[in-house]
Amino acid sequence: MRQPMVAGNWKMHGSRESITKLLGTIKANCDTIPAVDLVVFPPVIFLQQVQQLLAGSKIQWGAQNVHEQPSGAYTGEIAAGMLIEFGCSHVLIGHSERRTLFNESDELLAKKFMAAQQQGLTPILCVGETLIQREQAQTEAVIIEQLNKVIDLAGVEAFNHAIIAYEPVWAIGTGKTATPEQAQQVHALIREQIALKSENVAGKLRILYGGSVKPDNAATLFKMPDIDGGLVGGASLDAQAFLDIAQCSNSYY
Ligand code: 13P
Repeated sequence: MRQPMVAGNWKMHGSRESITKLLGTIKANCDTIPAVDLVVFPPVIFLQQVQQLLAGSKIQWGAQNVHEQPSGAYTGEIAAGMLIEFGCSHVLIGHSERRTLFNESDELLAKKFMAAQQQGLTPILCVGETLIQREQAQTEAVIIEQLNKVIDLAGVEAFNHAIIAYEPVWAIGTGKTATPEQAQQVHALIREQIALKSENVAGKLRILYGGSVKPDNAATLFKMPDIDGGLVGGASLDAQAFLDIAQCSNSYY
């Protein structure tokens, strides 16, 4: 059985004050969701504050990005070992905003994935197609390419200690969610691709769905057989919405 996970990607949002409030409410209520792993991804500047607020709770935290080198003259960048010092357990790798706005290539992301794992972080590798790619029937090819670049460098066994998030780019921040059937189709494809190399790894791998997940659509998404939870953007900034989404995952296991 795969333990579901609901993760909140805060992107470039939050302040000291709003984070204290948000995490206060989530923390006070998270015991009602025992069967779901909860992770939040604040902007790195707030990691120390988040570490203090969440120490001893069941909620984990991580970073939205990491550099591929362990240290060096890389002005403005953050290394995996530094994230570990602030108690991070996870890191997002290859969010579509990193791929498109910051030109991160599959090759670079494979290196970041490896660098994160080497320091003991669990990467959440984000994959997904754009609207044009979907309309041109390239969804499968795009997802397979994004996956294979990481498998080629890190090996399939690396996915014993990783999570995948399927985030169709056209569904991110748009209010357009993939239908449960559309999402399930791609999640099954991802699992099949991993299973081609190792059925054991594929069976245990958690695959999260991301893209306009809200309390009113989470339940139908999360009950699909290959959807093991969600990577939530906008709704994760609202404590009650985040808890309600997590609760949808809780009720299916
Ligand atoms: P939204 O939930 O705001 O669509 O964002 C999804 C996302 O990008 C999570 O990483």
